[in-house]
Amino acid sequence: MKAIILSGGKGTRLRPLTYTGAKQLVPVANKPILWYGIESIVAAGITDIGIIISPETGEEVKAKTGNGDRFGATITYILQDKPAGLAHAVKIAQPFLDDSPFVMYLGDNLVQSDLDLFLEHFRVNNLDALTLLCPVENPSAFGVAEVDENGRLLRLVEKPKVPPSNLALVGVYIFSNIVHGAIASIQPSARGELEITDAIQALIDQGKSVEARQIRGWWLDTGKKDDLLEANRVILDTSCLDSNNLGEVDAQSRIIGRVHIGSGSKIINCTIRGPVMIGDNCHLENCFIGPYTSIADNVRLVEVDLEHSVILQGAKIESIHHRIVDSLIGQRAHLKEATCRPKALRFMIGDDCQIELN
Ligand code: TTP
Repeated sequence: MKAIILSGGKGTRLRPLTYTGAKQLVPVANKPILWYGIESIVAAGITDIGIIISPETGEEVKAKTGNGDRFGATITYILQDKPAGLAHAVKIAQPFLDDSPFVMYLGDNLVQSDLDLFLEHFRVNNLDALTLLCPVENPSAFGVAEVDENGRLLRLVEKPKVPPSNLALVGVYIFSNIVHGAIASIQPSARGELEITDAIQALIDQGKSVEARQIRGWWLDTGKKDDLLEANRVILDTSCLDSNNLGEVDAQSRIIGRVHIGSGSKIINCTIRGPVMIGDNCHLENCFIGPYTSIADNVRLVEVDLEHSVILQGAKIESIHHRIVDSLIGQRAHLKEATCRPKALRFMIGDDCQIELN
């Protein structure tokens, strides 16, 4: 059994962060989203992993993730020259996959579920495709499955107005090599992509054994800001984040609950209420940091009141006398109070940013 993780794509929903970086490398609890997928695949015993990358962000994904040693796996990078669809990614991965059955994992998804049981079900029942599903409140926003009482997949519908069920397709699939023939038989969709849902539908129409199973834990698609903040909240809540202070905390600071402080970080006169994750070499002074906040490496926060937010590497926030909540601050972004009079707001904001003021 092999695995491919799709880490190309455009990432339009997470702009502007994705103008300068891969969305799969955006950290959740200070770990790139992509790495959760790799760890889950390795935990299921699969160590031969192909990662689909794009020309724009591929080098960054490679540099950060490496050859797989850190995960106990072998990683092969597969360049997809344009984001021509999930089934297109499988097509270009075919030389890597050869005739092997494989797991296909979307690199921007977080799934709390062991894959072992699903792999076992796939093997024992000699399936051609197994898709993982999760009940959702707003199925119209997802690919939705219609399944019979035995778990056989009857039909897949992309973002249906009238959903046949509340079961959304999680970005994890298991296929036999038969899927390559199905992909060869389909045409690009109206949006110009080779859709994996069309390939699965082709398998269903050919009478192949295609099943779907519900995951037991949670599933988070991190495509948009609020999804990402929710993923950060859930991971900080459920992960075994231990209080761990590798930095320096002065006597005036109060650390409450589960807070990780990375090495080289200095905490001066701050109150930090966990769960909070602080990376390496950060400087926090006169701050309140509230629950569900992840602060990446080399961040500087001075006189800041912050909670339920994700701050990326190298960002600086200084003397902001409003509470910052539900925010995602990009790498090296700099927010500071204007010191000159009359008080005015001065911005240099990149394309597609979202700012809410009151
Ligand atoms: P999507 O989220 O469906 O697409 P996207 O990354 O282009 O994002 P957006 O909708 O915000 O523009 O992709 C799911 C995952 O699959 C994601 O990790 C990117 C990856 N992907 C590829 O590797 N190749 C592709 O051709 C496509 C469409 C996606």
